[in-house]
Amino acid sequence: MHQKIITRFKSLKEKQLSIDITRGKPDVDQLNLSNELLNIPIPSISEDGADLRNYGEPFGIIEARKLGAELLDAPVANILAGEQSSLLLTYQTVLSNFLFADPVPWKDLENPKFICPVPGFDRHFMMLNDFGIEAVPIPLKSDGIDLNAFEDLLKGDENFVGILCVPKHSNPSGEIYSDKNLEEMFRIGSKYSDKFLFLFDHAYLVHDFLPTPVQKPLWQIATNLNVQDQTVITTSFSKITFGGGGISFMATSGHSLDLIKKVRTTMIICPDKLNQKRHVEFFKDVKSIKVHMQKHAELVRPKFEIAYTYLEKLSDEYGTFSRPTGGYFITYSTARPIATKVVENCKKLGVLITPAGSTFPNNYDPNNSVIRIAPTFVSKDQLSDAMDVFTTSVQLAHHDIDI
Ligand SMILES: Cc1ncc(COP(=O)(O)O)c(C=O)c1O
Repeated sequence: MHQKIITRFKSLKEKQLSIDITRGKPDVDQLNLSNELLNIPIPSISEDGADLRNYGEPFGIIEARKLGAELLDAPVANILAGEQSSLLLTYQTVLSNFLFADPVPWKDLENPKFICPVPGFDRHFMMLNDFGIEAVPIPLKSDGIDLNAFEDLLKGDENFVGILCVPKHSNPSGEIYSDKNLEEMFRIGSKYSDKFLFLFDHAYLVHDFLPTPVQKPLWQIATNLNVQDQTVITTSFSKITFGGGGISFMATSGHSLDLIKKVRTTMIICPDKLNQKRHVEFFKDVKSIKVHMQKHAELVRPKFEIAYTYLEKLSDEYGTFSRPTGGYFITYSTARPIATKVVENCKKLGVLITPAGSTFPNNYDPNNSVIRIAPTFVSKDQLSDAMDVFTTSVQLAHHDIDI
């Protein structure tokens, strides 16, 4: 058995591979779906007469905000259309509360903490770290956050200021939060404090590639429970049109909307309205976004299937893996605490994987088990090679074979 794995290692080594599956990026064929945007003719005036070529409309042009309102199912008055990055809006939300939250800015709290479902998105942890806000992990279950863990944490500590989650096709493990889970989260969090912030990064809102459980629009759930002022939802077109070249949206209300407007007013005079207009001309409505996302699905799904054919060759003795219905990632959980070793082995064979631990705050995965695989941004052949390397690396590490 060991000899067979070592022989496989040697033959893969001879291939001198150089493949990077660290980040969830759209592949070039996905980007090509939006090429029309490169040359789309647009007027220089917005629907309500704003000159798109000049400063103005700090919170986005009306037609972009209407599209965002349709996408997030929130009133247009609650929608801000921003630059190309939803992560920036999320950062600005944290910043605005850090500087100006009422009654006490987070910067003046002794030990502000955020709850972060794990595994999660490394940049969320980096962001909180920038502000000295402690990211406290809670486990994810198949239908959302572990509500008991959430409640227990809040019971024992007055320092929590919010929760930051990816409620659909969670990055990286692909969970879809159920309506019930979201409702309970809102109930428990708002009972804890009417200042507790529910921050949702909806990066994968329309990114299904297989039939996916329907999730009620978050804004509707928040409104039904009257917690809109404590709720901030962000999303973008980064994985709909161009990575880092789309437009972003935020839905929020009351003091949370005032705060973001305040901090943005100092920071930026207005977003790129021409790009907003281009996107509105390109899509017009959410129905056409959904049709477009079907085309992405046809390109993305086969890559996940390739990855599964390799992962299925490993028995449960080695570990288990997620089978998301959308999004950009597969998580592999090793049965033994060997994630770091697996990633090292992959590197020796020329395949870069997201560093082990990076899906946890402070890069600390207590079980040293979770590995994030991003199958989209490579060709099918490269992906096959990368998965061959991955499964061989898991076997090597599992059996403590040093190479
Ligand atoms: C969960 C999540 N949020 C945000 C982003 C980045 O989005 P944007 O380009 O809109 O900043 C990503 C990209 O990988 C992501 O996975």
